[in-house]
Amino acid sequence: MSAEEQAKAYAQANFETAHSSYPKLFATKFPRRSGRGCVLDLGCGPCDVTLRFAKANPGYTLHAVDGSAAMLKYGRRALARHPGLPRRFRLVAGFVPGAPIPRRSYHVILSSSFLHHLHDPQVLWQTVRKYARRETIVFVPDLRRPSSRAKAEAMTQKYSGNEPEVLKRDFFNSLLAAFTPAEVRRQLKQADLPGMAVEIISDRHLLVFGRT
Ligand SMILES: C[S@@+](CC[C@H](N)C(=O)[O-])C[C@H]1O[C@@H](n2cnc3c(N)ncnc32)[C@H](O)[C@@H]1O
Repeated sequence: MSAEEQAKAYAQANFETAHSSYPKLFATKFPRRSGRGCVLDLGCGPCDVTLRFAKANPGYTLHAVDGSAAMLKYGRRALARHPGLPRRFRLVAGFVPGAPIPRRSYHVILSSSFLHHLHDPQVLWQTVRKYARRETIVFVPDLRRPSSRAKAEAMTQKYSGNEPEVLKRDFFNSLLAAFTPAEVRRQLKQADLPGMAVEIISDRHLLVFGRT
């Protein structure tokens, strides 16, 4: 399975339930946020979540970073379907850490389903620290690991039973690679990010949110 096939399957998958909830959850968690600012999206993939944030927050500009050229190709295509949005967007190719992130700091740092891809979770948290300023909003929804392989298998069947085989396998592996809320709390303590809370938001997701 090539990176292109994997990116295509991911870009075409239906993540409506989870992804449509994120901008609403963001608004609920940060009701007094400024309507303007620049958002850094780490591991943006095909930009489905980034686009939803852009539409829900018209005063934001967005810098979306991903290490996969194939994923960014689908991100570019998705953007092109939304006239007016591309001028508020900048797509950045590169692996974190080390990607050529354009600004020194951001008002909002978003990262959806990226944490579980990292062998070293501190890569995400240290990047958050590096690009945050005072009072930067951090919003990180991700999968959380079920308590057994059997539960991961059942969830894979329930939530991706109708998807192509490659996606089912990716989802199963992602569930097993994901962190538990307790593990994420330890990561945040190690990273010295005391302003973050970790909340369970669904049977398969957790959310890290707060201000630096
Ligand atoms: C599961 S996808 C999530 C995409 C998107 N944020 C979403 O919620 O749909 C994870 C993305 O992280 C990217 N990725 C993984 N490791 C990376 C790294 N070290 N630096 C940059 N991107 C990375 C992958 O290429 C992939 O597009």
